[in-house]
Amino acid sequence: MTFSLDRVVPWGRSYEEYVRMFDLGPAELGGRILGCGDGPAAFQAELHRRGGRGVAVDPLYACSAAEIEQRIAEVRGEVMAQVRANLADFVWTTIASPEQLERRRLAAMAVFLADYEGGRRQGRYVAGEAQALPFAADAFDLALSSHFLLLYAEAVPLAQHRLAIAELLRVAPELRLFPLLELGGAPSRHLEPLLAELGAQGCGLEQRRVAYELQRGGDTMLRIVRPVLDHEAIAALAADFLAQRLPRERWTHQTHLAVGLWHLRRHGRPEALALLRSRIRAHNAAAGIGNDADNGYHETLTRFWLRALAAHEAAHPQATTAGSLALLLRSPLASVDAPLRHYTPERLYSREARAGWLEPDLAPLPSQGAPRDRAEEGQGRAV
Ligand SMILES: C[S@@+](CC[C@H](N)C(=O)[O-])C[C@H]1O[C@@H](n2cnc3c(N)ncnc32)[C@H](O)[C@@H]1O
Repeated sequence: MTFSLDRVVPWGRSYEEYVRMFDLGPAELGGRILGCGDGPAAFQAELHRRGGRGVAVDPLYACSAAEIEQRIAEVRGEVMAQVRANLADFVWTTIASPEQLERRRLAAMAVFLADYEGGRRQGRYVAGEAQALPFAADAFDLALSSHFLLLYAEAVPLAQHRLAIAELLRVAPELRLFPLLELGGAPSRHLEPLLAELGAQGCGLEQRRVAYELQRGGDTMLRIVRPVLDHEAIAALAADFLAQRLPRERWTHQTHLAVGLWHLRRHGRPEALALLRSRIRAHNAAAGIGNDADNGYHETLTRFWLRALAAHEAAHPQATTAGSLALLLRSPLASVDAPLRHYTPERLYSREARAGWLEPDLAPLPSQGAPRDRAEEGQGRAV
């Protein structure tokens, strides 16, 4: 590792800033989080204090706390002089002034320094580089890169970004990057090429506006979700389904979602529903699953899932089919029990719900379709 402390400007953000930059809620904060290039940020220290599970990786962690502290003292004046010389490059709303910014940064770095040596011994601060991570596949649920990838576009070439992102998606199913700008405030030169390449690989991509902006125009976070099935695999699955070649053990929730998405994208919701009514029944019959009052095709569930998929698609209009599926499987709809947030089991698993559409009795549907949509779907009756 070629690392030289005197070339590094250690400067770190607070836990609250991470929560806002990456739009972290209880679901994310409850998982194992890798912070890549966390430097002297307070995120991991505070996450640990709150009982969360996180690890930070940064070449900086080859240094001791005393060395990092001294380097912060050395660069502090220069960093703040740069900020004061470029005041218009920042939005002074959440943080009101350069003085307040400096106080908050120093407070965040003090939190880091107090946690650092103990955390290093516990393996929570690991010296390493994004391009060759010292972690097993799937060691984490989420990886974050704050003010490292994309921002240092000039110093870190596109090929290094590719390597780093591939590594981060090896150790976690999802990576979030913030900001999408480079130093100086222009959109990162690597953003468009990376979006094109990752999209072609079947990654789920979402650019999400977040409740954080300090660098002017830097209010958007990129989610990159590891591909689940590529475009060919989804088409092959749909072909097997149409030819009634899918054995019962491959008719999983993930397969249902992939086949539903494929129909929705190809035919639109009303036609997809009509086709799925007959095709699911035919598929069930071929797989040895009867379609009767208590088994097989279920009208309410089929319509619930098509509506949920349509709402998901509307929220991600730019996504490819593979990308949409990847995002879907990182959403609450990844759970086969998602309908039970809207229906009581008594209602959902009733013969009436299987035979025909029943409205939910717990909470409105994810996409409460317009009346026109509902009319277009027709009042299907099963069996
Ligand atoms: C500007 S700091 C950001 C610190 C922190 N993420 C924050 O937002 O407050 C950039 C960090 O990236 C780290 N870094 C540089 N090259 C890296 C690499 N190849 N892999 C991981 N981290 C790296 C630096 O050591 C530095 O700590």
